[in-house]
Amino acid sequence: MSNAFEVLRNEMDELVIGHDDVKTALLLGVISREHIYIQGPPGTAKTMLSEIISKSAELKFFFYQMHRDTRLSELVGDLVISREDTENGELIRQDIIKGGILTSEIALLDDISRAPGESLNVLLRILNERKYGQESIPLLTAIATSNPTADEYYNEPLDPANLDRFVIQINASGLSYGKQWDNAKKIVSLYSTKNGSYDFVTKVGKKALDESYDKLKKVIVPASVQEGLISFVTWLIEDQKLNESNSVISDRTFLVKSIKIIKAHSVLNGRDEANLSDLKALKFLLAFRVPEDMLQLAEDKLESIENQKKKTKK
Ligand SMILES: Nc1ncnc2c1ncn2[C@@H]1O[C@H](COP(=O)(O)OP(=O)(O)O)[C@@H](O)[C@H]1O
Ligand SMILES: [Mg+2]
Repeated sequence: MSNAFEVLRNEMDELVIGHDDVKTALLLGVISREHIYIQGPPGTAKTMLSEIISKSAELKFFFYQMHRDTRLSELVGDLVISREDTENGELIRQDIIKGGILTSEIALLDDISRAPGESLNVLLRILNERKYGQESIPLLTAIATSNPTADEYYNEPLDPANLDRFVIQINASGLSYGKQWDNAKKIVSLYSTKNGSYDFVTKVGKKALDESYDKLKKVIVPASVQEGLISFVTWLIEDQKLNESNSVISDRTFLVKSIKIIKAHSVLNGRDEANLSDLKALKFLLAFRVPEDMLQLAEDKLESIENQKKKTKK
C-alpha cells in the first residue's frame, strides 16, 4: 500500500474493528474522487468510518445529517436579495450565500435516504454534475450513508438511477449478526481499555491526495486487464443473464468508471501499472447494481479471472 493511504488505513484499523471492505471502498473512493454509498444497519460504524476518512484528508469538510425535513437551502445555501439605488434606478440583486455542498471538498451526507424527494433530487443532480448553475463546485467526493430502508415507512429507497451516481457502493453489516466473534471480542476489549473517543486523527493532507490523483491518471492498464474487465462484464450479461429489469449495468459505470476504480486500486497498492489483482476492486461497484444473491458469485468470478490468466501465462 502506498504511504498516505497506509497511514489512513492504519488509523481506521485502530479505531474501527473489522469492516475490511468498507474501509477499502472508502479509500478507493477518495483516491478516485468518486462518490461513495454505504448502506447498512444502525451502529455498524458507517458514520464513524466516514468521519475518520473525511477528517484525516484535511479537505474542506461538510457533515450533514439528513432528516425528513431537510430543505435544499440547508445544503446549497440561502438566497439573499439586495437592493441598491443607483443613477440608473434601483438595482436588485440576487446572490447566494453558498452552503456546505457548494463549498466543501469532501461531504458526508449521513442517512441520505431520509431526505425528502425534492431536496434529494437536486442534491443528487449537483453531485452528478459537480456544478451548481454554471459554476463548478470544489467537491471531490461525497460519502452517503443509509440504513436499509424497507422497515422505515418514511424512508424511500433511493431509486437505481439515483444510486448509480454513486460509483462506489458497499453493504456494511453488523459483526454480531455476522457471527464474527473474534472481531466482537476485539471491540469489547477496545472499549474496555479506552473510552473510544477519537479527537485526534492522523492527517494525510490535500497535497498527498493531489499527488495520488496525478498518479492515478498515469496508471497503465495493460491489455490483459482490459480483457479481464470485458470478460467480467460479458459474464454478468451473458452467463448470469443480467438485464435492464434485474440490474443496473450502465456503460458509464462498467466500461468507463470501472477503469478509474481499477487504477485507484493500483495506486492504493503502490503500483503505476494495473494488474489482474486490481480487478477485485470491481466488487465495490456491485452492491446495488446486481441482485444481492449474486454478489458472492461475482467476487469469486473476479478471483477466478485473476487466477486463470496467471495460469495461462505460465
Ligand atoms: N466495528 C466497530 N469498531 C469499533 N467501534 C464500533 C464498531 N461498530 C460500532 N462501533 C461503535 O458504535 C458507534 C456507532 O457507530 P456509527 O458510526 O454511529 O454507526 P452507524 O453510522 O453505522 O449507525 C461508533 O461510534 C463506535 O463507537
Ligand atoms: Mg450513522
